[in-house]
Amino acid sequence: MEIDQARTTQLGELIDRHNRYQSDVGAQSGEPALDQNRSIDPEGRYVLFVGICTHLGCVPIGGGAGDFNGWFCPCHAAHFDTSGRTRKGPAPYNLYIPRYEWNGETIVTMIDPTQGRPMSDEQLESVIYGKPLED
Ligand code: FES
Repeated sequence: MEIDQARTTQLGELIDRHNRYQSDVGAQSGEPALDQNRSIDPEGRYVLFVGICTHLGCVPIGGGAGDFNGWFCPCHAAHFDTSGRTRKGPAPYNLYIPRYEWNGETIVTMIDPTQGRPMSDEQLESVIYGKPLED
């Protein structure tokens, strides 16, 4: 049901019609924000995006929250759908998509957007847990 909802959403229903990538904050990639362009796999079972609200940077609540059964940011009431697209409220952009590579099964490799290569374990830990990186 969630996949069907995401896949049948038309671009005209979206506030932000473009995919945006973590490395290009604020820029439009030109790629339409269709679920097919946001999912990791062709079937649309997996999506990966940065859980930081594009309004002022709070952390949206997941698990089917909000009016679109996706994520909801309670700070100022931004609603995101199951594909991480902003649908209602003050968030101007869809949730950013990080750079990654997928092995076609279960392994996702996060890519350092500044270097264009896989993140080290230390970088990944920093991203996941918010620990400061040391030089
Ligand atoms: Fe999320 Fe304002 S920070 S709605």
